[in-house]
Amino acid sequence: MTTTQPSPTAAGSGSSATEAFRAARATASGTTGVPPERVSAVVSSLLAGIHETIRTESVTYDEFRAAKQFLIEVGEGGEWPLLLDVFVEHVVEDVAARDQHGTKGSILGPYYLPGQLRLDSPATLPRRADEKGTPLALSGQVRDTEGTPLPGAEVEIWQADEQGYYSGFAPHVPDGNLRAVVVADADGRFEIRTIEPAPYRIPTDGPTGTLIEAAAWHPWRPAHLHLLVGAPGMRTITTQLYFRGGEWLDSDVASATKPELILDPVDAGDGTHVVEYDFVLERA
Ligand code: DHB
Ligand code: FE
Repeated sequence: MTTTQPSPTAAGSGSSATEAFRAARATASGTTGVPPERVSAVVSSLLAGIHETIRTESVTYDEFRAAKQFLIEVGEGGEWPLLLDVFVEHVVEDVAARDQHGTKGSILGPYYLPGQLRLDSPATLPRRADEKGTPLALSGQVRDTEGTPLPGAEVEIWQADEQGYYSGFAPHVPDGNLRAVVVADADGRFEIRTIEPAPYRIPTDGPTGTLIEAAAWHPWRPAHLHLLVGAPGMRTITTQLYFRGGEWLDSDVASATKPELILDPVDAGDGTHVVEYDFVLERA
């Protein structure tokens, strides 16, 4: 990927992601609402896992201090939302998915921002006058698990641009760019015109990047669209859609791909890639 734009720094993305998370949790604090027996059970199990790792890996004092320094830097850089969403959220999602029917879910990630523009379908996502990228038209229908169309369905979408940057987190991208809540028609049908996003690279200039480098991993997520799909009385699904043949599909650093979530767009003949994807929601 070549870019002439300034990369958002890890600290910039991290503190914006921390701020967004805090705003969404404004009414909650710490472990509020989690009963003591759950705190005890989960934290004991977590610590037992760490203790076991120290024993089996014969972790040294030097390594313990390196870990302590790393964790301090993750906090100082505001990188907890990035680190947790990239390495941990996918398992939380797996557990949540045990009782979820219909369209498969995926992780929310750190870059969701509420309060976006609401647009009736067919909709074109807000974009810059010179927005680069292959035009993409995503259309489909939102139905319940019996196949009944859901009027009043909403498809919220947010994505990186053609260079892999998200509005609200990369300073050079205008607020609200490539984000919207698209309101489906009376048959639950929607059409969203956007551009294909680029693969996303975890910022590598902060502690998460340092860890990735120290472990000789790669920092990439395959190109993806983020979606929240809901309808009155139905369980909202959080998911992502990927692109057939896309780089990093088989080695997503966030482990958040699923075969059912891969789009296979075709060229409409005018350079626009078109694809249909239907969403199936279960009762809330
Ligand atoms: C991260 C970024 C994403 O765009 C995403 O979908 C998941 C995780 C991250 O930087 O942690
Ligand atoms: Fe993302």
